[in-house]
Amino acid sequence: MKLKNKVAIITGSAKGIGKGCALVFAKEGAKVVIVDLDEKSGEQTVKEISERNGTSIFVKTDLTKVADVQSMISTVINTYGQIDIMFNNAGYHISKNVEVTSEDEWDFILNTNLKSVFLCSKYSIPHLRKTKGCIINMSSMVGLIGQSNAGAYSASKGGIVALTKGMSLDFAKDGIRVNCICPGWVNTPLVEDWFSQQKDPQKAKEYIYSVHPLNRIASSEEIGNAAAFLASSEASFITGVALPVDGAVSLGY
Ligand SMILES: NC(=O)c1ccc[n+]([C@@H]2O[C@H](COP(=O)([O-])OP(=O)(O)OC[C@H]3O[C@@H](n4cnc5c(N)ncnc54)[C@H](O)[C@@H]3O)[C@@H](O)[C@H]2O)c1
Repeated sequence: MKLKNKVAIITGSAKGIGKGCALVFAKEGAKVVIVDLDEKSGEQTVKEISERNGTSIFVKTDLTKVADVQSMISTVINTYGQIDIMFNNAGYHISKNVEVTSEDEWDFILNTNLKSVFLCSKYSIPHLRKTKGCIINMSSMVGLIGQSNAGAYSASKGGIVALTKGMSLDFAKDGIRVNCICPGWVNTPLVEDWFSQQKDPQKAKEYIYSVHPLNRIASSEEIGNAAAFLASSEASFITGVALPVDGAVSLGY
């Protein structure tokens, strides 16, 4: 087990990629804190982890609100006594270019995707310093290459890459490693929904698969495996990295 007895907070882990990562982290022996706005799905994730003999709790949190983040961190410390891994995964996507993005939409995306990383990092760092823990942030291939109709989303994901590198320098002296993951497309219920809403779902799926040189998209588990590696002692000399987990789509298509 790569993460035996480590305490890992994973944001946005009620559903999608975060849930897949939570299942991998629990399998690797971590005590997983499921942090999300969605209470029903969060409790369901806790149930599934427990059915697999894993350990987890759900803490309902709005990651854009400072008081909520502070309270979530206190709950984790009161429950488990320490934090080893702060995995900032939560994020939201809107498909719009800058000209048609409203100020509210811009603020919503930047607050959800980037401010949440700032807040969770800020309030977990004092605890990570004690455990020589690590931070993992969820960026995207869009943080590395351009994508049309993704103005606010691109800014948030590029911001995460830059913030990751900066924080890795600031906190290396404390033994805290900070890395981010840049997935290509990942197979989640939302992505399946998106395929089904296209004029020709099969054709859309084949096209998206084909732009990834490995000719498919990732599973949530594959993202979880990369995150578990970065969080483990096997990655003890890796910090400040933006790791593509994308079947080489970010190399160009
Ligand atoms: N799905 C993909 O293909 C893909 C590709 C690259 C990167 N990503 C990134 O991976 C991450 C997860 O994406 P996903 O596809 O699993 O999305 P998702 O919508 O399935 O899951 C995101 C979760 O975050 C939660 N969340 C959103 N705002 C929140 C807030 N303010 N407070 C607490 N919880 C909140 C949601 O309730 C949801 O459970 C995101 O950062 C996304 O940008 C996804």
